Amino acid sequence: MHLLLQLSLAASALASAIPAKRLSVANSTIGPYVAPGTEYLSLPDPEFPIKFTQRHSSFANPGYISAVQPLNVQDLSTMVKSFNKKNLRYMATGGGHGISTGFARVQNAIDIDLSKFNTIDLDVEKNLVTVGAANVLADFADSYTGPERKSVTTGNSPCVSAIGATLGAGVGPMQGLHGLMIDSLRSVEMVTPGGDVVTASQTENTDLFWAVRGAGAHFGIVTRATYAVYDATNRGEHVNADFRFDSDAQLGLLNLLKDWDSDEVFPREMAVSVTFSYDHVAKMPTISVSAYYFGSYEAARPYLQKLVDLKPIHWRNETLGWNGMTQAAGFGQTFAKACVRGRYTTHFSAGIRQTDPDTWASVLAKFTDWSAARPWFKGSIILQRYNAKVTQQVPAEDRGAYPGEILGRWSTYDGPNHDVEVREFYQPLRDAIYRTSGFASPQVYVNYAHGDESPEAWYGPSLSRLRLLKQKYDPQNRFGPGFPVSGKPYIIRGQPY
Ligand SMILES: Cc1cc2nc3c(=O)[nH]c(=O)nc-3n(C[C@H](O)[C@H](O)[C@H](O)COP(=O)(O)OP(=O)(O)OC[C@H]3O[C@@H](n4cnc5c(N)ncnc54)[C@H](O)[C@@H]3O)c2cc1C
Ligand SMILES: *[C@@H]1O[C@H](CO)[C@@H](O)[C@H](O)[C@H]1NC(C)=O
Ligand SMILES: *[C@@H]1O[C@H](CO)[C@@H](O)[C@H](O)[C@H]1NC(C)=O
Repeated sequence: MHLLLQLSLAASALASAIPAKRLSVANSTIGPYVAPGTEYLSLPDPEFPIKFTQRHSSFANPGYISAVQPLNVQDLSTMVKSFNKKNLRYMATGGGHGISTGFARVQNAIDIDLSKFNTIDLDVEKNLVTVGAANVLADFADSYTGPERKSVTTGNSPCVSAIGATLGAGVGPMQGLHGLMIDSLRSVEMVTPGGDVVTASQTENTDLFWAVRGAGAHFGIVTRATYAVYDATNRGEHVNADFRFDSDAQLGLLNLLKDWDSDEVFPREMAVSVTFSYDHVAKMPTISVSAYYFGSYEAARPYLQKLVDLKPIHWRNETLGWNGMTQAAGFGQTFAKACVRGRYTTHFSAGIRQTDPDTWASVLAKFTDWSAARPWFKGSIILQRYNAKVTQQVPAEDRGAYPGEILGRWSTYDGPNHDVEVREFYQPLRDAIYRTSGFASPQVYVNYAHGDESPEAWYGPSLSRLRLLKQKYDPQNRFGPGFPVSGKPYIIRGQPY
C-alpha cells in the first residue's frame, strides 16, 4: 500500500515535467496522473485510430472523451486511483472485440487502452506461458509452436485478446482436449477496482481468482495472465475441413448434430462450426461447416465421412499445424473478417446443450424468408459444437465463476439503421431456441451475449457469490458495464421460466 502511494506521487511529479502537446480535456483529466512517455489524447484526434486499439464493432459503443495508454502496471494503478478519486468514468480496451448493448451506458469516459501490455514469456521447464492484456489469440496460439511442440487451448478467432476471452471463459475448438481457457489459467496480475496491484491464483487472492474466471471484466483490469501448456497432440498437426451445402442437406445436418449432442459420440478431438446464411446473389440459403480434428487424418476420416455423406456442393480438407486453424477455417475467408475494425455487427446468442431439429428447422425457415425480403441483411446463424466433457470434469472448487456446460450458438447481423427491426425479429427466435435448449432457464455464454439477457443467464448459480464480491471489490460499480451482475431476469414472452 505504502509503496503504491509513493509510486503514484512520483508519477504525477514527473508527469508535470513532460512537454504537453495535448488538448484541454486530456490535459486536465489525464495529464497530471501519467508517467513520462505515456500517450494520451482527447477525442476526436486523428492519431486515435492509428495508435489506439479500435473496436471490432461500432454497435452500442462506449462514448470516449479521451484515451490513454498506461505504460506499466504501476502507471495503471496510479491512473485508476486518480480517476476514482475524481470520479471519472473509464473502461479498459484489450482486443476491442467485446460487444454489448451495455457498453452504450459508458459515456464521457476515458478509454484505458492496454496496448503496452504486450509481452509473451515462455517457461518451458514449468510448461507455462504468460501473456499481456494486448496479446491476441493468434499471438497466444503461436507462442509455443517452436521445436518444443507444445500447445495451449485457445479460441477460434485470431484478433480477440487472449485475456479478454478468458475473462468470460475462453471457449474454442480445442476445448475437448484441454478444456476452456479458464481451465488452463494459473494466475493473473491485476489492478483491482480500488487501484491496488495484486496477483490472484489458487493460493493468493483466491476469491478474485475465482471471479475473474467467468466474470473478469467486473473485478479490475488484468494486465498479465499465466496459463498451463500441454504436449501437442498428434505432433502438433490437425485436420481442417470445410464444406459448403445447399438447403437440401439441412435436415440431414441437423440430425447429424443431434447424434453428435452426446460428448461420448462426438469425439473430444473434434470441433464443428456451422454457419447458416442467405446468398442474396444466388437467392438461396447456404450452409457452411468448418470442422477441426486434433488428430491424424485417419482418425478424422470416419467423422468427416458423415459430412461427405450429406453431399456437399464443395469441400476440402488439409493437415496443418493446429495454430493455423483460424487462418485455414471457412475456406480461408473467416480470418480477415474476424479482424476488421469498425464493422457494425452484434449478436444474439443462446447456450444450448441439445439439438432440437424441429426447432432449428422452423428457426431457419423464418430466417431464410426474412433475409430474402431484406437485401440489406447480411446476418448468419452460427452453431458451434465443442466437446464439453473435459470442462465438466473440472471439480467445482477449481472452476471459477463460469457456470459451465454452455455450448456457444450464436447469430450475427451487420448493418446500421435496422436495430429495432432486427431485434424484434431475433428475440422470438432466440426464445424458441432457449425453450428447447435443454436448460431449465435461458443460459448464454457471457462473451457471446447481446446485453439484453439477465445476470442469471450470464452467471447462473455463481451470481449470489459474484454479487457479494462485487460489494467488496467494486462497490461503486465502475467495472463490467457490458454484463452487470445486478439487473432484472429476462422473461421469455408468454413463457415465464
Ligand atoms: C469475431 C469474434 C470472434 C470471437 N471468438 C471467440 C472465441 O473463439 N472464443 C471466445 O471465448 N470468445 C470469442 N469471442 C468473444 C470474445 O471473447 C469477447 O468479445 C471478449 O470480451 C473480447 O475481449 P477483448 O479484450 O478483445 O474485447 P474488449 O472489447 O477490449 O473488452 C471486452 C470487455 O472486457 C473488458 N476487458 C478487456 N480486457 C480486459 C482486461 N485485460 N482486464 C479487465 N477487463 C478487460 C473491457 O473493458 C470490456 O468490458 C469472439 C468475438 C468476436 C467479435
Ligand atoms: C495542455 O497543457 C500544456 C502544458 O501543461 C499547455 O502548454 C497546453 O496549452 C495545454 N493545452 C490546452 C488545450 O489547454
Ligand atoms: C483430404 O485430405 C486427404 C489427405 O491429405 C487428401 O488425400 C484428400 O484429397 C483431401 N480431400 C479433399 C476433398 O480435400
